[in-house]
Amino acid sequence: MRYRIITYGCQMNERDSDALAAMLEDLGYRPAAAGEPEDLVVFNTCCVRENAERKIMGRVLEYRLEKERRPELLVGVGGCFPQQPGAAERIAGQAPWLDFIFGTHNSSRVPVLVATARMRAGLRAETGSGPYGPVIEIDDSPDDAAVDQPRLAARRVEALVNVSFGCDNYCSYCIVPYVRGRERSRPVQAVVDEVVGLARQGVREVTLLGQNVNSYGRDLAGGADFPGLLAAVDMAASPFGLVRIRFVTSHPRDLSHRLIEAMATLPAVCEHIHLPVQAGSDRVLKAMNRGYTRGHYLALVERLRRAVPGVGLTTDIIVGFPGETEEDFEQTLELVRLACFDSAFTFAYSRRRGTPAAEMAEQVPLPVRRERLARLNRLQEEVSRESLARLVDTGQEVLFLGPSEKDPNVMAGRTRAFHYVLTPAPAELRGRLAMVRIRAARTWTLSGELVPATGEGASR
Ligand code: 5AD
Ligand code: SF4
Repeated sequence: MRYRIITYGCQMNERDSDALAAMLEDLGYRPAAAGEPEDLVVFNTCCVRENAERKIMGRVLEYRLEKERRPELLVGVGGCFPQQPGAAERIAGQAPWLDFIFGTHNSSRVPVLVATARMRAGLRAETGSGPYGPVIEIDDSPDDAAVDQPRLAARRVEALVNVSFGCDNYCSYCIVPYVRGRERSRPVQAVVDEVVGLARQGVREVTLLGQNVNSYGRDLAGGADFPGLLAAVDMAASPFGLVRIRFVTSHPRDLSHRLIEAMATLPAVCEHIHLPVQAGSDRVLKAMNRGYTRGHYLALVERLRRAVPGVGLTTDIIVGFPGETEEDFEQTLELVRLACFDSAFTFAYSRRRGTPAAEMAEQVPLPVRRERLARLNRLQEEVSRESLARLVDTGQEVLFLGPSEKDPNVMAGRTRAFHYVLTPAPAELRGRLAMVRIRAARTWTLSGELVPATGEGASR
């Protein structure tokens, strides 16, 4: 029995898909290789932007004919998309042949949904009739912070670990708080135990995940906070071979001095921060309900660069938010130049039903949004190229992840500041640290060569 999980969206979803995979393997399913026919397909979906939804529905509908040919094939759709009000019914209307649909708070129920679907498919095959239409399970009461999520036992170099679920920020454009619920932090000990367990299995790098890691712990008794969590993870997991700790996402409003200090001082915590700015104009930031100004953001960047030498800085930017004028947009361009981001995820504003911004009067026409996005991307490309070019001829500590896609003799890895590096190196370096001299920079990647190890500690 073969399964395939098709994942869209953020790292939260990637982590959730890993948990789903572990549950399916417990049921006896094995992953389907590329091109191999599946017995079970699960879509783990995203709804942050409208075109994500369109793409997902297109891909789901591609399974209709296959399902007609092989009624025993099971297909389910879950995650953020069906969690929106009325969305599960809309999906079921477009694809009544689906077997199950589940929400963000129901993924632990997938084994039951699969078992039910199997039974119903068997009944239909035997009797030629029987219940038709997907079983739908959408809850709005989250219970995930308390339980440990399962995980595949694969040998890996890097792993994702949730520190919190949901979001309390209610940025006016964003659907996440509605589909992922209020913010729930996992207890410090649960996170520490999970990371230590991973380190013992050979994981070298973890990325701690939360929609806003900087507000971690506000809902926990006992005054836990994120810098404290980082210190606890660093201390507990380093002796077991964990060499790198990353975290996403940081909110500029809640980024504290203590976090900057933690980045500067904790040995395993990497010098990289993903700090979404979203817009460069105070008027737009206010309408977005972001809770900081352009000045505050730029001051943070300056402080980070001073306290954490070589820090990698990445961001998210939305263009064409309702009411954004050409002048507002130009302030975003100017901020991009001033902040000198290593890279940016850039988006044209997408109107999400149920969010305050969707009701705002001055929606920016699509052609204008597209044109601004293209201009922003051109500028960011230039800025990225310049920021990578500055690394040529420096020595960088690289954690090797595995052979590059194009050439088995070239290993792909990352610097502490989150730059992607290609280096001719033996495959045994997977999962190891080594010094690399950077020789060339392209727009998004660096290439270099190994610095011969000189005595102890040069490569771990
Ligand atoms: N339209 C466009 N981009 C959005 N994002 C979130 N909501 C929207 C929306 N409605 C972007 C933000 C966020 C990233 C994950 O997705 O930049 O940081
Ligand atoms: Fe959405 Fe804002 Fe929460 Fe990020 S912080 S998930 S953009 S509401």
